[in-house]
Amino acid sequence: MNTGLTFFLVITLFCFAADALECYVCSSSSSNTVCNQKTQNCSGSDDTCMTTVTHVVGIQSIQKACSLSVPCMTAAANSISFVIGGNTVTCCTTDLCNVNGFAITRLNVLLLVLPAALLVMSFGTS
Ligand SMILES: *[C@@H]1O[C@H](CO)[C@@H](O)[C@H](O)[C@H]1NC(C)=O
Repeated sequence: MNTGLTFFLVITLFCFAADALECYVCSSSSSNTVCNQKTQNCSGSDDTCMTTVTHVVGIQSIQKACSLSVPCMTAAANSISFVIGGNTVTCCTTDLCNVNGFAITRLNVLLLVLPAALLVMSFGTS
């Protein structure tokens, strides 16, 4: 069998085998350590762990919750960050993946770089 297809099937099976997504949840915590005291098994349709880091003049507030991929991605796409303040939203989809509010921000960079790379490639071939 095609290796790509096998890989796809294995991933799909893995996703179905996994039960409710578990995320760290907290509201307005001043640090990641404080935030990671509590976890929650998300309800059925929630497929994303969402982390929101808000900072205003150096004071940060972290929020983590179960979410749906679309609203989370929308919030992530609309997140803004200025030197004096802003917010960063990150989305991830594996159990307890929102353990670290900062390492995950690299995903944001990836989400920006990936479409840009695809755009460049599509222009390159036309
Ligand atoms: C979530 O579900 C897992 C597996 O069933 C369980 O081990 C864990 O304690 C649950 N967590 C919460 C916060 O209910």
